[in-house]
Amino acid sequence: MRRCAQRPPKRALLTDSNVHIIRLYQDIQRGSLTPGLAKAFLAEEGEKLRAGGEAHYYAVRDRFNSYPTSLDFLFLNRSCFNGVMRFNRHGKFNVPYGHKPERFAQAYVTKITNQIRRIAEVISACEWMFAATDFRRTLATAQLGDLVYADPPYGGRHVDYLNS
Ligand SMILES: C[S@@+](CC[C@H](N)C(=O)[O-])C[C@H]1O[C@@H](n2cnc3c(N)ncnc32)[C@H](O)[C@@H]1O
Repeated sequence: MRRCAQRPPKRALLTDSNVHIIRLYQDIQRGSLTPGLAKAFLAEEGEKLRAGGEAHYYAVRDRFNSYPTSLDFLFLNRSCFNGVMRFNRHGKFNVPYGHKPERFAQAYVTKITNQIRRIAEVISACEWMFAATDFRRTLATAQLGDLVYADPPYGGRHVDYLNS
């Protein structure tokens, strides 16, 4: 039996109101987002970004807003302005282009790939459930003896998730 690395909880419920973050972890958990897939995708999209510039960025952003996927989510996080994550009131990602195609250099892609591999290793050794829920609903499921770790939004940063 594999042991949990650095002793994370064996059983845990991990939640966030951001469905895209939760989908990313769920995709890693079910094996539909692998290090190999992410590496190939980011290398290819990075090439297209270098060639197409902001037109390519906005094409991917439109694609993501019509049909969100974890791969496009990763791409947008790398290519948008300052890695900001912001959505309009209809839930559409609306961060402008960051004008830094060098963020898809091989070393960065390898770093992201390694992070996905590490996450997959940790998750596969544990019984974790990921869910997109408001923290109030999550807290309502807590029982006596449960450990609750809350990581709330930071105030005064380039984010507007604090307003919700
Ligand atoms: C400081 S970040 C922590 C993210 C995560 N714990 C991590 O380490 O990557 C704060 C998170 O709170 C989430 N959040 C904001 N309002 C929330 C709410 N009402 N219920 C649940 N999560 C919320 C945001 O989507 C954001 O991911």
